[in-house]
Amino acid sequence: MPPSNPLSEPCVMVIFGASGDLTKRLLVPALYNLACDGLLSDNFAVLGVGRSEITDAQFRASMSGENDGLPKFHTRKSFDRAQGDRLINRFHFSPANIAVEDFKKLKQRVGELDRACQAQGNVLFYFAMAPRFFGPLCDTLHAAGFQDGPGWRRIIVEKPFGTDLASALQLNQEILKHWNEEQIFRVDHYLGKETVQNLLAFRFSNGMFEPLWNSHHIDNIQFNVCESVDVQGRGGYYDSAGVLRDMIQNHMFQMLSYLCMEPPGSFEADAIRNEKAKLLQSVRIYTPEEVPQYVVRGQYGPSFRANGEINQPGYRQEKDVDPASGTETFAAIKLQIDNWRWSGVPIYLRSGKALWKRGTEIVVTFKTAPAAVFRGTAVEQLEPNRLVFHIQPQQGIELLFQAKVPGPTMQLQKVDMRFSYGNAFKASRYTGYEVMFYSCMRGDATLFSRGDLVKAAWEIAQPLLDYWKATPPGDEFPNYARNSWGPPAASALVERDGRRWFEVVTPEMLEQLPLFKGGEPMLLSAVIMALKSCSFAAGETIIRAGDPAGEMYLICRGSAVVLDPADQPLHQLGDGDYFGEIGLLLSAPRNASVKAATQCDLFVLKKSDFNRIMRDSPHFAAAMVTLAKARYDLVLSCADLMCL
Ligand code: BG6
Repeated sequence: MPPSNPLSEPCVMVIFGASGDLTKRLLVPALYNLACDGLLSDNFAVLGVGRSEITDAQFRASMSGENDGLPKFHTRKSFDRAQGDRLINRFHFSPANIAVEDFKKLKQRVGELDRACQAQGNVLFYFAMAPRFFGPLCDTLHAAGFQDGPGWRRIIVEKPFGTDLASALQLNQEILKHWNEEQIFRVDHYLGKETVQNLLAFRFSNGMFEPLWNSHHIDNIQFNVCESVDVQGRGGYYDSAGVLRDMIQNHMFQMLSYLCMEPPGSFEADAIRNEKAKLLQSVRIYTPEEVPQYVVRGQYGPSFRANGEINQPGYRQEKDVDPASGTETFAAIKLQIDNWRWSGVPIYLRSGKALWKRGTEIVVTFKTAPAAVFRGTAVEQLEPNRLVFHIQPQQGIELLFQAKVPGPTMQLQKVDMRFSYGNAFKASRYTGYEVMFYSCMRGDATLFSRGDLVKAAWEIAQPLLDYWKATPPGDEFPNYARNSWGPPAASALVERDGRRWFEVVTPEMLEQLPLFKGGEPMLLSAVIMALKSCSFAAGETIIRAGDPAGEMYLICRGSAVVLDPADQPLHQLGDGDYFGEIGLLLSAPRNASVKAATQCDLFVLKKSDFNRIMRDSPHFAAAMVTLAKARYDLVLSCADLMCL
């Protein structure tokens, strides 16, 4: 944030569940970032509350531990110890149970802190506890008289907000029994991400996209939240949640509403939240019978070593997970928005754990230009224009279009215009919670969810939950392997409509190939642009031993077998594996054949494109010569690589 931003308002922040991991990993680093950026009021204190009988000094020590406290979890380039100490010295702790007597004592303590730091009576309550405690916390705070006195009271509620429609409605009721909607700030940490907030800025501050933002010009929209991590020891929680509750109903629906809502009348919190609510209320609610037609669920199985031993466990073998669990770790959904703007534009959502890559992207695909004008040229097909919002780990926006390849004939090549946050702005990495705290302390609810929004989101999810509950997957799970793209049915869902998932290849993915490891960003980006997709049916030969090598392949989805000269299988390749890279460096014949074992979707990098990239930037060629020697023991010249 630029330094001209005003300070947060004075307050005492009371964190319930303060001894949990969230406080030290995210909340304290976020407060520290605000302090470092000069945004945190000096009239500020933290009161941690929990059942542990610890003192202020012990609480401070646990927050500032060298290996498991702020010095470890801060997100800045370097740690400013003086600033860290100043912040932690404002921390206090009071043990308490959720009981009126205990909360009356808490109230006294908050009063003392308020007087000491002159917080003007303002209190921010942060519920970092399981949702079943939210109602009792609200009741007990009320019963202990926390609403009396001067200043404001605001409550930040962590997710998950309910576990289904009925429980969310009930929770809303419990919370709103004694408190007003304006006092409740429901967190969705995706709304704290700069790239998510930028969706609004991008749409409504740029005149050129809004006229195109509708079913006349947009063919489909894809939301992709792929995680390469598994449940990471959170099996106990995850097994009762699943990806629909954990990622889709909250984070993804928030992004969906930002991307597709109508322009708000202003940037006032309720002007934006009204439009978000309207959008979610326009999403078609499926009947249970429609669910299998539009929704695919999946669960990851183990990954295996070459000798057949289990390398990493499948979901059902994870700690604290039911060995016969029917919980989905992956889902792909086709949604339809029944309003004037979007009617007829399919919206595809996909999210899962233990997938091949980590990446959150939104891909807006425009309608393809008529190809007739290119009849009689070498152009076989036109690609649609795409606008890709890279949410994480890359952060930026990319517009994909086609340009003529220099030369005497009409040939097209996909090219891009790219904006990268990292290059355009120099800001410290934020956890996402900074802006949440800051907004809440200033009474701005824009980035928080409202009761009706939460309800609308659960209404969309509920039929899926009902259908899945009524039809347990049983032996259908696991249906995708770790490190793959997810179950094949997710591709079929989109292919039925004559479309495909647009797979965003990231530099990280390309760097898994020794040939590109550590490559310059410009080189990686040129290679990504040059990748073309192609598919082979099960049993088809992809490359044949003895044929000239003219390209390299990256398996996007499917499996292939490498065969020896006697056509005997040597080994199996799967999602994310690559083959034929030497073919880019040499024009020698292939020394093995590769056959598709299942339907195989591949990215191809043609040698001619690789040579062109080398010619366009001779310093890449020089680097490649060194690399070819070091990694493949090949002696090449720049001229070889440029194919001069
Ligand atoms: C959390 C989910 O809300 O979001 C996690 O509970 C998930 O399961 C996480 O991994 C993803 O957040 P991010 O910011 O890493 O995309």
